Amino acid sequence: MTAKIIDGNALSAEVRGQLAERAAALKDKGITPCLAVILVGEDPASAVYVRNKVAACEKAGMRSLRDVYAPDVDPAVVFARIAELNADPSVHGILVQLPLPKHFDSEAVLEAISPEKDVDGFHAKNVGALMQGNPRFIPCTPYGVMKMLESANVPLKGAEVVIVGRSNIVGKPMAMLLLAKSCTVTICHSQSKDLAFHTRRADILVAAVGRAKMITGDMIKPGATVIDVGINRTPEGKLCGDVDFDSAKEVAGAITPVPGGVGPMTITMLLANTLEAAERCIK
Ligand code: GUN
Repeated sequence: MTAKIIDGNALSAEVRGQLAERAAALKDKGITPCLAVILVGEDPASAVYVRNKVAACEKAGMRSLRDVYAPDVDPAVVFARIAELNADPSVHGILVQLPLPKHFDSEAVLEAISPEKDVDGFHAKNVGALMQGNPRFIPCTPYGVMKMLESANVPLKGAEVVIVGRSNIVGKPMAMLLLAKSCTVTICHSQSKDLAFHTRRADILVAAVGRAKMITGDMIKPGATVIDVGINRTPEGKLCGDVDFDSAKEVAGAITPVPGGVGPMTITMLLANTLEAAERCIK
C-alpha cells in the first residue's frame, strides 16, 4: 500500500486565495492587514523563515515590516521596538522569530507583545485561552496541521493520537487542539520509554522532534495518518522531515511530505491570524 499524500502546497494555495480575497475586502474599508516581523541574529534557517513570511504577506495583499538586529543587540532595543509596534494602530500582527540569542529572556519578549497582536499565539494569555478551549490566536503550525487533517477528512472523534515532541510551539498546542476535537492524546518526548510501543498505537501520528528520519515505517500502524512537522537537512544538504518518508509511505494511509507539507501551511495560518487580527479592528 502506498499512502495518500496530503499536499500542503495545494491546500496552502487554496487557503491563501481565500485570504487574499478577505484582505482585498478589508482594504476596501481602508485597512491593510500588516504583520511586523522581528529577527535577532544570523541563524540562516530563521532568516529563510522570516524572508518567506514577509514574501507571503506581500503576495496575499498584506503589508509587512521587517526589523533585523545584530546577534549582540541590547534586549532593551528590541523591547522598545515591540512597545512601538504595540502602539501603532496600522500594525495588526507582531512576530518575534525564535530562537532568540541566549542573552535574551525569550519568555519576557513574548509577554511584551500585545496579546491582541500576538499572531503566533505564544503569549501566556493566548496559551491559557487555548488551554481553556476559547482560542484567540492558534499557534500557526498546529493550526495548519488541523486544516490538513480536516482537508483530508481524517476522523478525529475518539482517534488515538500520538504526538512526538513537547515544545510550546508545536507539541503542547497540538495536543490541546486535538483534545478539543475529542481525540485521545498521548505526548511522547526524549525521555519516553519504548517510543515505538506508543507510535504503533496511533491512528494519527504527529512527529515534531527535529531529528531527521527518526520515525520509520516499522513504528507506524498500518493505515495511520502521519503528520511530519520536522524540517531537517540530511548530511548531503537535502531537506527532510522527522519521518523516514520512503519506509513510512508504504505503511501509512496518509502522510504529509517534507518539503511541501506542514511548512507552507504554517505560513498560511500566520497570514490567517494576521488577517483575523486586522478584521477584529472593525468588529
Ligand atoms: N521558530 C520556529 N517556529 C516558529 C514559529 O512558528 N514562530 C516563531 N516566532 N518562531 C519560530
